[in-house]
Amino acid sequence: MRFYYLALSALAGQALAAPSPAADNHPLPQNWLYSPQIDDVALNLLDRPDIVGVQAQYTWKSLEPTQGHYNFSRIRCDYKNVLAKGKKLWVQVQDRSFDVSNDPVPKYLHTPYYNNGSAPSCDGDSCDGNFNITGYVAQQWNARVRSRYQALLKELALNFDGKITGLNLPETSIAVDVTANNYTDEGYFLGELENAGYAASVFKKSYAVQYVNFWPDGWNNTNNRFTDSFNYYAKHGVGVGGPDLIPNKPGQMANSYVYIPEYHNKVPISVIAVQQPDVLNETNAATGKPFTKQEFVDFAVNDLKVDIIFWTTIVPWLQGN
Ligand SMILES: *[C@@H]1O[C@H](CO)[C@@H](O)[C@H](O)[C@H]1NC(C)=O
Ligand SMILES: *[C@@H]1O[C@H](CO)[C@@H](O)[C@H](O)[C@H]1NC(C)=O
Ligand SMILES: *[C@@H]1O[C@H](CO)[C@@H](O)[C@H](O)[C@H]1NC(C)=O
Ligand SMILES: *[C@@H]1O[C@H](CO)[C@@H](O)[C@H](O)[C@H]1NC(C)=O
Ligand SMILES: *[C@@H]1O[C@H](CO)[C@@H](O)[C@H](O)[C@H]1NC(C)=O
Ligand SMILES: *[C@@H]1O[C@H](CO)[C@@H](O)[C@H](O)[C@H]1NC(C)=O
Repeated sequence: MRFYYLALSALAGQALAAPSPAADNHPLPQNWLYSPQIDDVALNLLDRPDIVGVQAQYTWKSLEPTQGHYNFSRIRCDYKNVLAKGKKLWVQVQDRSFDVSNDPVPKYLHTPYYNNGSAPSCDGDSCDGNFNITGYVAQQWNARVRSRYQALLKELALNFDGKITGLNLPETSIAVDVTANNYTDEGYFLGELENAGYAASVFKKSYAVQYVNFWPDGWNNTNNRFTDSFNYYAKHGVGVGGPDLIPNKPGQMANSYVYIPEYHNKVPISVIAVQQPDVLNETNAATGKPFTKQEFVDFAVNDLKVDIIFWTTIVPWLQGN
């Protein structure tokens, strides 16, 4: 295994005042948990010395139940519990869902002023031919929606900057009805960049990270979507990452997996998650079996050069003691 202490300590002074994840002497990449809700399973796993912290998810609507009235009690409680174990918290803010029964935006956005706030979305490889609604996404291409989202990010920073290790915005991949809601690929792209830059401008001590996996009109850097976005992140101090660590998967290899390593020295931090589908639904073409821990780690270190892996708590190596 290769370590990246040097690269990171060099970065600490360069881009941002963000704390170096190497500061506490854990070898890189650090192992964190990914647990959308911090339940007893996650809390117990935090007792392991090889686990640095936990990444949890919070929906926009749960954080801002009514306009301008924020409820951060779950984050506060999670932070307290995680800190009590001497571990760290990372926050992912959900402005999109992968569940038709769960629209992640606050109710007050479901009004004409915000054009209903969210749009139905489709996840998967067959959305072109079969637009099957599998969730909702905030209309980040709409300036009014964006301004409310940025107000949330600002409030989160007021409360948690320097306390949580980082905050990430969810993946950029989306498929919506392109003929509705004034959607344009360009409007979505620019809206996502603006949000990420805003997050980095208000989080001065904690990392602000964008998960960037695919762009709707950016396959294999079409329209320069990847180079333009990664240059923007480098310029604005936004870290990068993605929701899925799937070694050598062709789709990823033709997209974000090119840029995550290329920019690892130009952005404050780079991270990747091993989420449930990466464990349950993906196999190593070379072995025909699910990826082992070592295969995930080797790829994360050598090919992607990331600093943190967020592991779903269902991975085999976290079971038992
Ligand atoms: C804030 O959220 C928590 C759960 O996340 C809930 O129990 C509580 O009732 C909420 N508080 C208010 C004032 O809505
Ligand atoms: C769509 O764009 C047009 C032209 O800019 C504007 O008049 C209209 O209000 C927009 N509609 C929505 C739903 O944002
Ligand atoms: C507005 O959003 C709600 C919640 O997702 C949805 O049920 C409703 O159909 C949407 N209305 C319109 C006009 O799209
Ligand atoms: C559409 O998505 C739902 C889940 O939202 C799934 O149960 C259903 O099988 C899907 N239908 C098609 C035709 O893909
Ligand atoms: C990506 O595009 C380049 C040209 O810009 C081409 O050479 C390459 O084969 C493409 N790769 C994939 C995987 O489509
Ligand atoms: C992943 O696999 C599980 C069972 O192994 C299945 O229920 C689920 O539909 C699969 N999900 C995807 C996205 O393929």
